[in-house]
Amino acid sequence: MYPVIEWKEGAVVMLDQRQLPAVEKFIVHRNHLEVAKSIKEMVIRGAPAIGIAAAMGIALGVIGLRDDPNVKNPAYLDEKFKDIVAVITATRPTAVNLFWAATRMEKVFRENKTDFSRLQEKLIAAAIAMDKEDFAINRRIGENGQELLQSGYTVLTHCNAGALATGGYGTALGVIRAAREKGKDIKVIAGETRPYLQGARLTVWELQREQIPVTLIIDNAAGFVMKKGMVQAVIVGADRIAANGDTANKIGTYALAVLASYHGVPFYVAAPLSSIDLRTRDGDRIPIEERDADEVTQFCGQMTALPETRVFNPAFDITPASLITAIVTEEKVLHPPFATALASLKELRRK
Ligand code: MRU
Repeated sequence: MYPVIEWKEGAVVMLDQRQLPAVEKFIVHRNHLEVAKSIKEMVIRGAPAIGIAAAMGIALGVIGLRDDPNVKNPAYLDEKFKDIVAVITATRPTAVNLFWAATRMEKVFRENKTDFSRLQEKLIAAAIAMDKEDFAINRRIGENGQELLQSGYTVLTHCNAGALATGGYGTALGVIRAAREKGKDIKVIAGETRPYLQGARLTVWELQREQIPVTLIIDNAAGFVMKKGMVQAVIVGADRIAANGDTANKIGTYALAVLASYHGVPFYVAAPLSSIDLRTRDGDRIPIEERDADEVTQFCGQMTALPETRVFNPAFDITPASLITAIVTEEKVLHPPFATALASLKELRRK
């Protein structure tokens, strides 16, 4: 797999996803401010990948303090660490993985802050471990989820919940990959995912590299392809799953779930436990990021609406638990009622 994000010689290297599929270019980040900017501007995107970037960004931020003569002052170091975390977590509000990763890094900080050189090593190790772990988690999600897909299925997916959105392999695309590795004949329909085109630019790029058959549709064609019986399952990722199973994911996911329900097509969510937020009771309480009007008034840099047009551009929506057939995690596949199923997850209770 291609390195989406990598810790390399004291810097964080990211594949610039804004330029795919036309250009494969890497950006080197030397401090946490650069990492925060790249998360916000979507050089890296996708909930688990954002979490890994956050962890690496926090590690970079602390390393940046090494020549500061005041780091031996515990109150000063605490304050500086808080500032670094605040910059990183202010980037994108919806994907809970970002906050989950920051909390994990805070724990490492608390346990090691009395020895600054050990602290740096431990933070770097924790961030790198998160990346590796995520890959292994996605393999387990794939293994669990592939049971839901039968040979001959065409699966519709939205946005990009693949290797590019994670530490590798992907969540929704991981399930598809795992099914194909079992020898099942699975084809994919990818929605283009206006306005940022993660489906067209990223999902198609990923799948084509592996010769996984993929057909691109405009988002508005989803109802038509379901009506024609061209889709046997919908599978998407998640940015945050609330305690009752309501799921935030890329804008347009909710509409797909409604369409799937109307046409009797199963609707699956594949996500790691780090995307589950039991502290948020339901979807109404999940913060939804709103992005720039330019993404809507322009297409590939060309104006498609008058510049003064009033725009509403939510990046995510909420799919109610009642429209979800199953949630695939690395621990197991969850079935309704999701409130009970989510509360029963052993790994989450341990944390
Ligand atoms: O705005 P993005 O590209 O970060 O949105 C990504 C999604 O909505 C993904 O489906 C989600 O993060 C899951 S990625 C495994």
